[in-house]
Amino acid sequence: MTRVVFIERDGSTREVEGKPGDRLLDLAQNAGEPLEGTCEGQMACSTCHVIVDADDFDRLPPAVEEEEDMLDLAAGATRYSRLSCQIWLSDVLDSLTVRIPPDAKNMQGR
Ligand code: FES
Repeated sequence: MTRVVFIERDGSTREVEGKPGDRLLDLAQNAGEPLEGTCEGQMACSTCHVIVDADDFDRLPPAVEEEEDMLDLAAGATRYSRLSCQIWLSDVLDSLTVRIPPDAKNMQGR
């Protein structure tokens, strides 16, 4: 089991349990997190963007180039950003903490 902790936009946390093979985007959506995942994992949107805890980031398989390209366009992206549709839980992850980025719509027009 992987303990997945979501840090909400307001700073509160929500914890769910995932199993190997679960996709982070699906877990987030099932938990009611506000990740749209518009393209359903095609790496053609960035509405599934999350910011991974710095320690956990290094334990994830690295992003492929298409994912990196998409993250360049994601609002509020940091060097620890990932697309949650490209993260699958595995046995090596006992816990995973990710932050929901600021609302993209609120960031436009600044
Ligand atoms: Fe579109 Fe992840 S759901 S890139």
